[in-house]
Amino acid sequence: SDVPALRAALLDWYDVHARSLVWRTPPGVGTRPDPYRVWLSEVMLQQTTTPHATPYFLEFTRRWPTVGDLAAVEDGELMAAWAGLGYYARARNLLACARAVASEHDGVFPDTEEGLLALPGVGAYTAAAVAAIAFGRAANVVDGNVERVMARLFAVETPVPAARPELRRLAGSLIRDERPGDWAQALMDLGATVCRPKSPFCGDCPITRWCAGYASGQPERYPLKTKK
Ligand code: ADE
Repeated sequence: SDVPALRAALLDWYDVHARSLVWRTPPGVGTRPDPYRVWLSEVMLQQTTTPHATPYFLEFTRRWPTVGDLAAVEDGELMAAWAGLGYYARARNLLACARAVASEHDGVFPDTEEGLLALPGVGAYTAAAVAAIAFGRAANVVDGNVERVMARLFAVETPVPAARPELRRLAGSLIRDERPGDWAQALMDLGATVCRPKSPFCGDCPITRWCAGYASGQPERYPLKTKK
């Protein structure tokens, strides 16, 4: 397998096809988004789709432009603003995290995956996403989209959930120090727009040449699921 060529093909695709989401900066080097905005968007996106999260993100960042502003909000006010996003435990965690960054880190997000993971309510996914996207760290960012792309790319015959550790290891095998935030988001965008759960658009995919699922003729069979 030719990891550098696969990476170049996907990153080139992302340069052209990256979704322009309001919390993003354009792909490529030079611009890094505000960690607060990355963190906030990633927490919102664990609950809901990008179109549903967008107005909430715009409203939150208009009312509370910095993590310090968010930390100063009262619980009830935050819950009211969160209404419609669901899963209120996450809103409580959001506030606990904002307050920890404000009071224990002078309002500056830790710039490593380990430091981020130590914040209240920040799990493995969010720590990796913020480390990669906001700080350019070569973190392994694995969500459901990335799992599906890996299952197809490597034609993983183990069903989920048992396959999860293997899918994570396979995703990690493709990580390099180059453009980690773009790489993570390219995989997520590919999963969301091309390598879709039901009818993948393999004709639009930049990495079919390396894809064992595509070669099998039945890419939509992956990831296999344990029969309930
Ligand atoms: N889903 C969650 N976070 C995302 C991101 N940064 N880009 C694309 N899809 C996402």
